[in-house]
Amino acid sequence: MNFEFFNPTRLNFGAGKLAELGKVTSQYGSKALLVTGGNSVKSNGTFDKAVASLKEAGVDYAECSGVEPNPRITSVRKGAEIARKNDCDVVIGLGGGSVMDAAKVIAAAFYYDGDPWDMIFHGQQDVYVPTKALPIITVPTLAATGSEMNMGAVISNTESKQKSPIQNENLYPAVALVDPELTLTVPKNHTAYGVCDLITHVTEGYFNGIDGTPIQDRFAEGVILTAMEYGPKAVEDGSDLEARTQIQWASIVALNGWVQAGVNFLAPVHMIEHTLSAYHDIPHAAGLSAINPSWMRFAAKARPSKFVQFANRIFGIEAKDENDLDCAFEGIKRFETFLKKINCPTSLSELGIGDDLLSTYAEDTLHIIHDENGNLPGRPPMTREDIVDVLKSAI
Ligand code: NZQ
Ligand code: ZN
Repeated sequence: MNFEFFNPTRLNFGAGKLAELGKVTSQYGSKALLVTGGNSVKSNGTFDKAVASLKEAGVDYAECSGVEPNPRITSVRKGAEIARKNDCDVVIGLGGGSVMDAAKVIAAAFYYDGDPWDMIFHGQQDVYVPTKALPIITVPTLAATGSEMNMGAVISNTESKQKSPIQNENLYPAVALVDPELTLTVPKNHTAYGVCDLITHVTEGYFNGIDGTPIQDRFAEGVILTAMEYGPKAVEDGSDLEARTQIQWASIVALNGWVQAGVNFLAPVHMIEHTLSAYHDIPHAAGLSAINPSWMRFAAKARPSKFVQFANRIFGIEAKDENDLDCAFEGIKRFETFLKKINCPTSLSELGIGDDLLSTYAEDTLHIIHDENGNLPGRPPMTREDIVDVLKSAI
């Protein structure tokens, strides 16, 4: 498959890097919009350190705090207004994926007079495609999404019950300033969700992509094995900087475009999950974790050989032949056991989601993304009934 790879984000990685925030930011502007989430950055001292570094470098800032997990379009609107009122010339996203995603869309909304929801692809005919954005600096405090070094963002609209992505090259951060020390305070549940999220970023390409991608397969397997080795350590002991650092790097590698290059990346589990988050405001990767085993059992039947490879290379399970479904299913079972071990949900009922709206979830997902036959892109493509069945067995 022919492909083009592009990622202009400068990655500045390592423990203690937060101290460089002011110097880095001063290369792009003199008044930053500092976007943050709930209280975590204030209570753990990260916010004060960030502000001290900005001040030292002579960078002024305006604040946009309170961005929600599953960031809302209302926060984006608010952030863009604050940035305009204060003549900001650079945007810093200091937080988890939710904060970074909001910061990225705020940076583009700064230049757009209409409603920023127009930029988020939610099934509308006339999507507004941003042509510029303020320079963006991402400072992740949680290892999960890879948002710090990619051009994506996912925004929720609680009024229309939609959660949808934007992918736009103007949203590539100028700099990802990544300091694994900032993740030492992430609670066990979000640490584990982050591990599941980053693994799912590579499994989506691995299982749904085209055949004949041996290098990308091994990159993906390297990410999965690393996450499975260090993830449980980070969950067990949050102060383990070595484990936190490996997970942080894995999360960046998992979704900065490199592992996806040339595989025809499709993400059905993500697209279904976004709908569940839109309705139930659940953490993104708790939803992924609950859907993954059920989706894998569905997809393995259509493409056993890839699941056999997964079972063999990740778990060392021997196969009778390359299409050995027993081996494929054993690999999925072991993966499910791993998710349970780090306390990620492996059923929707654990998240309080029942079967009353399954058709609605399927229809809403297909409204946002479908192929020429009206199915959810993936391998195999999913009909409305397939989505309902996968969700039903995930319950
Ligand atoms: O809001 P605060 O107080 O900061 O608390 C957060 C939040 O409650 C907390 N947290 C973050 N850093 C912390 C911390 N608590 C203690 N210490 C720290 N250092 O963790 C909670 C979850 O934060 P959130 O940002 O929502 O988590 P995550 O990083 O998993 O981001 C999830 C969002 O990213 C989107 C998801 O859909 C979801 O909306 N995604 C973005 C992607 C992208 N841009 O490429 C791809 C992903 O697939 C994903 O869809
Ligand atoms: Zn994800």
